[in-house]
Amino acid sequence: MNKILTALLLAAIAIPAAHADDAPAEVRTKAFKKMLLTFEPLGMVVRERAPYNKTQFEQQAETLRTLAREPFNHFPANSISGKSRAKPEIWSQPAKFQANRDALLKATDNLAAAAKSGDLASIKKSYGQVAQSCKTCHDAFRGPEK
Ligand code: HEC
Repeated sequence: MNKILTALLLAAIAIPAAHADDAPAEVRTKAFKKMLLTFEPLGMVVRERAPYNKTQFEQQAETLRTLAREPFNHFPANSISGKSRAKPEIWSQPAKFQANRDALLKATDNLAAAAKSGDLASIKKSYGQVAQSCKTCHDAFRGPEK
């Protein structure tokens, strides 16, 4: 009886443990996707495919600033599994990864400030910096889709 109980308990512990690595990758992917949902409408305005509304743009830029921080709370060491596109270099080159993250955060700060000023030229410039920071990090640290 005891042995069976122990086996059951171990099984109960082992099952979530086997999937534990999936969790951070899923959580950060969701957070990245949520950020993208705010980033895309800003891009529509910047590319003049949607009308510019200062208040709305300002709010969205502020939301982007907040959402951009979230995914980076979910990169525990070597959390690659399942469909994760994270490259091992994230953890073998942590200073470079952090510099890429900081570039994104700084760019979203600049975009939020530009949005507040309402100056379209600096909005476009800051938006371009955000987009560039996504690409720089993806090129270095995101692998192909699985
Ligand atoms: C500092 C690095 C870094 C920056 C900056 C960054 N990303 Fe990513 N992004 C990643 C990594 C790594 C993944 C893969 C995560 C995984 O699958 O575990 C990812 C995944 C994503 C995903 C999930 C879907 C997919 O393609 O895997 C989206 C959407 C995304 N990023 C959008 C963006 C956008 C938009 C920006 C800029 C506004 C951005 N990212 C900036 C590193 C970054």
